[in-house]
Formats: sequence, C-alpha cells, structure tokens
Amino acid sequence: MTPPGAWSTAEGAASWQASLAQRQQSLAFVTELLFAQAGIGPGVRALEVGSGTGDAALLAAARVGPAGSVLATDASAPMLEVAARLAREAGFTNVSTRAVRAEDLDLPPGSFDAAISRNCLMFVPDLPRALRAVRTALRPGGRFAASVWGPLERNPFHGAPIAAVRRRRAIPLPPPEVVQAFSLCSRAALADALRAGGFARIRLQSVPARRSARDANSLPSSRCWDFSRRRSARRPGTRSPANGPGSPPRPDWSCLASSSS
Ligand SMILES: C[S@@+](CC[C@H](N)C(=O)[O-])C[C@H]1O[C@@H](n2cnc3c(N)ncnc32)[C@H](O)[C@@H]1O
Repeated sequence: MTPPGAWSTAEGAASWQASLAQRQQSLAFVTELLFAQAGIGPGVRALEVGSGTGDAALLAAARVGPAGSVLATDASAPMLEVAARLAREAGFTNVSTRAVRAEDLDLPPGSFDAAISRNCLMFVPDLPRALRAVRTALRPGGRFAASVWGPLERNPFHGAPIAAVRRRRAIPLPPPEVVQAFSLCSRAALADALRAGGFARIRLQSVPARRSARDANSLPSSRCWDFSRRRSARRPGTRSPANGPGSPPRPDWSCLASSSS
C-alpha cells in the first residue's frame, strides 16, 4: 500500500524537502517538546515513526550522539532515500532508515529507549496495530511522544482555505488526505488510540505551530494546496482568507501526546 498524498513518489519527497525551512520554523517548538517528552538525549536508542525526509531524525541523531542511534522509518521509500542521503552528507554514522509501514514494524522487543512521531499517526490506517508495534519495540519504561494536527478550526493554515472552498460549494468535501490529516485532532481520539496500543500514563498538550501565508507558497506540489489554490482562486487584489500578507500570523495548533510503555 502506498502512503497517502504525494509522499510515495520521488517528486513528492523532493517537494517535501523543499519546504524544510518552513517546517524548521513552524515545528521547532513541537520538535523540542517531542524530544523532551520522549527523553531524546546522549546514548539513547531512538525510533522514529513516519520520518519523512528526516528533519527530526537528523536533529535527534545530533542529540543522541555517537553512543546513541536513530532508526528512521516511513512507509515511503523515496522520502527515506532523501533522509539517508542527508544523513550521509552530514556525516552521521548513527542513523539508519527502514521503509516500512508503521503497522508492519517488526522490531526486536525492548530494543529502543525512546520513540517519536511527528505528524504521521493520523495517516496510519491501523493505528492500534502500529502503536502496539512501537510499544513492543520500546524497553520497559521507554517513552513515546507524538504530535498530530489539532482541530481544523484551530488550524487556519489548513482550515481557512478548506472553509473558503466549502463556502463556494466548489466541492462537497476536502480531499481524503486532508480529512485524514485531522482524524486524530480530538484529544480523546489520540488518547484512545494510545491506550488501544497498550500505552499508559498518557499526557496530552496543545502546542502552537506558527505559520504564515508565505508558507503555503513554499509547498508548490502539495496536493492539498494545489487543490485549495485552484478551487479558491481569488479576484486580483483580494486577501488570502487566513494569515494574509500584512496580517499578523495566527498559530496553528498541534496536539502532542507522550506516554510510557
Ligand atoms: C506529514 S508527513 C510528516 C513527515 C515528517 N515526520 C515530518 O515532520 O516532516 C507524514 C509522513 O507519514 C508517512 N506515512 C503515512 N502513512 C504511513 C504509515 N502507514 N506508516 C508509516 N509512515 C506513514 C508519510 O510517508 C509521510 O512521510
């Protein structure tokens, strides 16, 4: 099965990597919290689920140092090829990659001290199975921290274009990958999924991820944005529906969950 959206192709991976600077800025705070909650530090053996092109994996590799290790996993081989190349170019010898769906992770029990997942869990079709696999891979007491997008109404970057398109009745629904992206946006859904995966002592927090309209322009081949730009083409001179040029950027919100195995 291919991952949703354009992530399964080399072109999609290149496009994702092209928006690295935007992610580094908007997700810096979320990433730091993920590391802190999971306990990413020197000597830690870390697992990442849905690494994409590896931005968080490489940051984690620097944190865990030569005594630690990072296994970056993702359903998309092209995304991980970028991650592996970047790791090589940066001289990391403690990063390995494995193209595998989260549901199919089959790692030696207790072989990781910590696990993280940034904005991937909502796309995993069989999430309880995937979370059980993560939990099995963690040593007793090992921690897992994951972020997902918060509610649509608190995410103007994604929510406002979708609302604008809906107002015009150009389409009845946003495309499936957009719906899917918000499938864990309720705190209860995220906590339930973690519990079903066998995790305990679950902690949830809302985290701001600041973005602006300029960020949308840095995602040239994102299907979601192509779709919303096409369908909500505005009259010349009118403003973007959210975070428009000149307006102060409003934060999007992520929900971050951490729990122990
Ligand atoms: C929104 S991107 C996030 C990528 C990366 N974590 C980041 O923050 O840049 C979602 C990622 O989840 C991956 N993905 C989707 N479904 C997956 C699954 N079932 N198992 C593992 N990875 C999956 C995609 O290939 C993609 O790389």
